[in-house]
Amino acid sequence: MNKEELSKIAKQMVAEGKGILAADESMNTVGKRFAAINLENTEDNRRAFREMLLTAPGEGEYVSGVILFDETIRQKTSSGKSFVEVLNSEGILPGIKVDQGLVEVGESGEKITKGLDGLAERLKEYSALGAKFCKWRSVITIGEGTPTEENIRQNAKDLASYALECQKANLVPMVEPEVLLEGSHSIEQAKDASGRILTALFEELNKAGVLLEGLILKTSMVLPGKNYTAKASPEEIAKETIEVFARVLPNNLAGVVFLSGGQGEIEATENLNAINSSGKQPWSLTFSYARALQDGATKAWSGEQENMEIAQKTFMHRAKMNSLASLGKYSKEMEEGFASSTGGEVTQD
Ligand code: 13P
Repeated sequence: MNKEELSKIAKQMVAEGKGILAADESMNTVGKRFAAINLENTEDNRRAFREMLLTAPGEGEYVSGVILFDETIRQKTSSGKSFVEVLNSEGILPGIKVDQGLVEVGESGEKITKGLDGLAERLKEYSALGAKFCKWRSVITIGEGTPTEENIRQNAKDLASYALECQKANLVPMVEPEVLLEGSHSIEQAKDASGRILTALFEELNKAGVLLEGLILKTSMVLPGKNYTAKASPEEIAKETIEVFARVLPNNLAGVVFLSGGQGEIEATENLNAINSSGKQPWSLTFSYARALQDGATKAWSGEQENMEIAQKTFMHRAKMNSLASLGKYSKEMEEGFASSTGGEVTQD
């Protein structure tokens, strides 16, 4: 484990005013995005879609890293440049999703994440392909009697095993315990669940001997469930999120990035801005969005080469807005002239 190198990359991932694009949707999830724009889910359409997202001129100004999917890290642009080369030339770190999806366990319907078998071998290959960091996502559902302590602990242990394996391969682990937005829970319930999950996670990371300076936490904002009776304001979301972090997160953690989880594009930006307007924290708090960075651009593109320019402009606008939000310098007036989505389906992988 090269501690210096790991800390350096982790810092670069959360550099001031930058965040991460998650472009690691499984084929199944891309299929859902394509269905919304009436596009067939073929390998070449997925390649063209990722080309649109990864070749936006100037992307490196706002984006520090991109999480790729196994298929994507091996793909090339239409002019024959590998996506990894494209990212490197923009000063963007290539990352890779290394978990292998979810399996249901027990009677509660809760899930754990597959992918520890053969992980060390896969990491070697991804490193040779140019990856600098990895992502592993576990999923926690708030519901009747869930999350259970057992499920929280199992996911925390698996995330810690994955993180250690990454660091042994000199890849920075992004550990993602996602609290799903699905459900009718209150913000207090989400806060309680987040506190329990993150406490268990850092216990297991410490037990495993994971270097926190070389690790990025990817987590959910503390939000009420999608079906809860009332919406929370950005200020309330910021307050509850920061309160959990202040109580649970160690100060030497390299940084925190948020998933968007089904929030609308503007909502995700406003909430990030509120979080970064609540005073100086020990960690950088930035974005690692998929839907909240991609939705408008995907619609604008709609699978047509001739829409590339407008789609990339739409993407760059969202990236810039989130960059400003990561500095607490965003305001809604900056959206003028740009259409955006209001969020949609909650699940994704
Ligand atoms: P969303 O921002 O669409 O939630 O995706 C982020 C992600 O990487 C989930 O694993």
